[in-house]
Amino acid sequence: MMSTPPARVRAHDLVFEEMLTEAQIRARVEAMGRQIAADYGGKRPVVLSVLNGSFIFTADLMRACPIECEVSFVKVASYAGQSSTGKVRQLLGLDESLRGRHVIIAEDIVDSGFTMQWLLREVRRMEPASLALAVLLLKPEALQVEVSIDYLGFEIPNAFVIGYGLDYDGLGRNLPAIYRKCDG
Ligand code: IMP
Repeated sequence: MMSTPPARVRAHDLVFEEMLTEAQIRARVEAMGRQIAADYGGKRPVVLSVLNGSFIFTADLMRACPIECEVSFVKVASYAGQSSTGKVRQLLGLDESLRGRHVIIAEDIVDSGFTMQWLLREVRRMEPASLALAVLLLKPEALQVEVSIDYLGFEIPNAFVIGYGLDYDGLGRNLPAIYRKCDG
């Protein structure tokens, strides 16, 4: 049987090929939501969504989590173009209301790990009752600091990816699947 080549898309000057299909992502995110529901029943957790990239992951994760839960947003940035700058800049503040709450950070992707290292430290200062991290994508080869992930979607190769909320200079967030940059 002939296998069909992965679908390709263009964003700005780059071409990307499909790496994770919509169905694969849906199945994994639904399993993560069920796991969180099993772990947090009765605790009314706050899902802290890291904007911009995590807005689609957060929406799907929460709809797959059939318990009482709330959502809050923080906007951080450390990326310029295709590479992490290492410096994390907070753009939209954290809320004191996280104090005493069960907080689950929802992040689209961990690359160098600097963003999550910084955000975990900031959220801990708010003295939550507990703190966990749900991450859709992890690039193990790119990690530069240790980040402890409680709920992980997929480990992926060290490639630049777009889709399902992730962008390349603003484009690609609305793609329903995840695409990796083609070499060359
Ligand atoms: P880190 O601080 O290097 O772990 O980078 C984390 C942030 O960089 C994520 O929240 C994303 O916004 C962005 N990022 C990392 N890798 C990619 C990628 O492959 N495509 C798009 N954005 C990425």
